[in-house]
Amino acid sequence: MKDFRAQAHRLADWIADYLDKPERFPVLSRVRPGDIRDALPANVPERGEDFAAIFSDFERIILPGVTHWNHPGFFAYFAITGSAPGVLAEFLAAALNQQAMLWRTSPAATELEEVTLGWLRRLIGLPGAFEGVIYDTASVSTLHALAAAREAAVPGVRAAGLTGGADRGVRVYCGEHAHTSVDKAVILLGLGHDALTRIPADAEFRMRPELLARAIAADRAAGLLPVAVIATVGSTSSTSVDPVDAIAAICGRERVWLHVDAAYAGVAAMVPGYEWILRGAEQADSLVLNPHKWLFTPFDLSVLYCRRMDVLRQAFALTPEYLKTREGDAGVKNLMDTGIQLGRRFRALKLWMVMRHFGAEGLRAHLAEHMRLARLFAAWVDASDRFERVAPVPFSVVCFRLRGDPSDEEHQRVLDTVNAGGEVFLSHTKLDGRYVLRLAIGNLKTAEHHVARAWELLNSAAGQ
Ligand SMILES: Cc1ncc(COP(=O)(O)O)c(C=O)c1O
Repeated sequence: MKDFRAQAHRLADWIADYLDKPERFPVLSRVRPGDIRDALPANVPERGEDFAAIFSDFERIILPGVTHWNHPGFFAYFAITGSAPGVLAEFLAAALNQQAMLWRTSPAATELEEVTLGWLRRLIGLPGAFEGVIYDTASVSTLHALAAAREAAVPGVRAAGLTGGADRGVRVYCGEHAHTSVDKAVILLGLGHDALTRIPADAEFRMRPELLARAIAADRAAGLLPVAVIATVGSTSSTSVDPVDAIAAICGRERVWLHVDAAYAGVAAMVPGYEWILRGAEQADSLVLNPHKWLFTPFDLSVLYCRRMDVLRQAFALTPEYLKTREGDAGVKNLMDTGIQLGRRFRALKLWMVMRHFGAEGLRAHLAEHMRLARLFAAWVDASDRFERVAPVPFSVVCFRLRGDPSDEEHQRVLDTVNAGGEVFLSHTKLDGRYVLRLAIGNLKTAEHHVARAWELLNSAAGQ
């Protein structure tokens, strides 16, 4: 592009304005299914086009189809923020176009990943025995953790696959409220969905360890092979925290791989007073957390910490002749050995820039503020005669319902009314079979007045 410099400057201005005031846009996109597709030509233009024309179509056609995760009124799912240092890092990473499969194809990406993940590990209090690796998403981190668990438990699985030998009747366990990425990993690893047992939860949506112990014992008695347990720290619906220490004790006794899914909430362990959430995790074999969820890092960046990275490498390392290097033979780390992907993006750059920009103090302060706002909202719910809270609020998510047990449809109507306004966006879940509204706080720009506005809109919609 011959006028790259001018376009980049223009883009920088556009992005600065956008990050400054995402409220200019409705938080939830208002396009209808097919609108974007229908507004675009069916074929690539025969002749290359000018960037100005492309950008004009970006603003006219693409932007209306964007749901603004950067909007301070984004309270759905797990709210996230792509912070400015992360955006700059992504710009640089795209320019550098690193492909970090081997140490020599990007010594910087390889070693910055190691250093940055060391910083993060120490911040959340995990011991040095855990080595980290960056993947795109928690689903992929969990898939790799369970692949390592399978490798550890089923001798020869890498060569022979699951063919009905020692592997017959492999079993994996997770809590009733664990994320569906666990199901997908079990399916993809060829263990079969039926191999996954969901252990019932207590009244606060936490896995009941005594039922886990019972399930493992019953399976062993039936000749099955328990290979892994997934404990969740910050479950998707209610952000409940499974008792990791009790679960770790069972896994240690049973010699079963323990994977901790702390994708959303794990980062909270860096906040004074929240160290308890990872108590017992030091005994786990692996743990996932997602800086792209609640650490101001642009999507995507998930971290898998593993205490047995040798097993993970054993499961995946495979070096064809053309990728052999002298330094590899001498023991230097090649990122391609730690997973299914050969090529890897330079993701560590954005995590490094984000952590340096905020500093440990800044990161802790933002997380603590989000949790304060959630507690404040929860207090409004508790004092309300319209709404009631349905789960504890350990972090930055509040689950609540309309009082008087109205129908799912009535809850949907309230949610749709609130979301249609364009100022806020909330999502829902089900707990104990009942429709639940969720307010999730995680955006850097979300301030008390945004939360107050959401509360006002909810009350107004519920009163209609
Ligand atoms: C607890 C938990 N684990 C895993 C995931 C999957 O995350 P990802 O989109 O990074 O695969 C989610 C998604 O919200 C989650 O809440």
